[in-house]
Amino acid sequence: MTPLLDRRLLFVTGKGGVGKTTIAAALGTLAADHGKRTLVCEVDAKGNLSDFFEAGRTGFDPLPISENLSAMSMNTEESLKEYLSLQLKIPVIARIGPLARTFDFVATAAPGVKEILTVGKLTWEVREQHYDLVVVDASASGHIVGQLAAPDAINELVQVGLVRDQTGWMLDILGDPTQTGVVIVAAPEEMPVQETIELAGRLREETVVELAAVVVNRVLPELFNAGEEALFERLRHDDGLVAALAEVGGGPVEPILDAAELAVSLRRSRAGHLQKLRTELAGTEMLYVPYLFQRSHGVRATNRIAGHLGEELGF
Ligand SMILES: Nc1ncnc2c1ncn2[C@@H]1O[C@H](COP(=O)(O)OP(=O)(O)O)[C@@H](O)[C@H]1O
Ligand SMILES: [Mg+2]
Repeated sequence: MTPLLDRRLLFVTGKGGVGKTTIAAALGTLAADHGKRTLVCEVDAKGNLSDFFEAGRTGFDPLPISENLSAMSMNTEESLKEYLSLQLKIPVIARIGPLARTFDFVATAAPGVKEILTVGKLTWEVREQHYDLVVVDASASGHIVGQLAAPDAINELVQVGLVRDQTGWMLDILGDPTQTGVVIVAAPEEMPVQETIELAGRLREETVVELAAVVVNRVLPELFNAGEEALFERLRHDDGLVAALAEVGGGPVEPILDAAELAVSLRRSRAGHLQKLRTELAGTEMLYVPYLFQRSHGVRATNRIAGHLGEELGF
């Protein structure tokens, strides 16, 4: 399997709120730190990617973040204009007026138009080698399959000519596992695990794109080793010892013991979900990112998570 960051195009997806933008920003940071010219692109034009870099608003034109890193937000209308001028050599400025007016109509009427303009722009950046790596803060699990399958769908719809030529090279890039991969972000909880397993199946059956890795986000740290846990257990059931400790500490010890037990059992229940994920997706690369006990997202959190991902990837 091609190492994750040696690919050219990574779609980061997963259940809403699970950490897609966090992981996309961190993967981009990590790649750029290792000398790769990297673009992070959020597909949702109203997304909050720029918060994770604290570098001002992102738009369709790439915003420089650091030496090797740029960030942008997708805009399908801009993508259409770029496509018309660069690929079809249509003098856009003169004609885009009426075109823009019909665009929304066409895009709504013909399913796949917005998707193809998104995927088309991303694969085009790869084809033109503007970047070594394009990381996509992609749509959530529910929409990613439609997006990735759009070139295929349009290919089937339009059998001839220009459109077919265009979808052909897109599919070549998307379907090449040395170039393109999907990264699913999951959390060790019941629903995200279930969605991840289902999405992996749909990717296999309905798209040409390979599942490159699963990032298990928000993994709780192991607070105690087995010996320490046994010690806590003994303490809980020894009233004399609890009273003596309260005496020394000047306050009740039970809340601390309860918190310790909660942490252990929480971790254990999550471990069960994690195990299910591992079993169902055996053979898929799994990367673990710990729960950061940190309130806000921002460039510090992004760098910390990039560091954890780097360790997982053996950097
Ligand atoms: N490993 C983590 N530890 C703690 N908080 C996290 C972690 N990963 C993400 N978060 C936080 O969870 C929230 C949702 O993450 P985000 O990346 O915006 O999710 P998504 O893009 O999938 O909606 C953010 O506030 C983010 O800072
Ligand atoms: Mg997001």
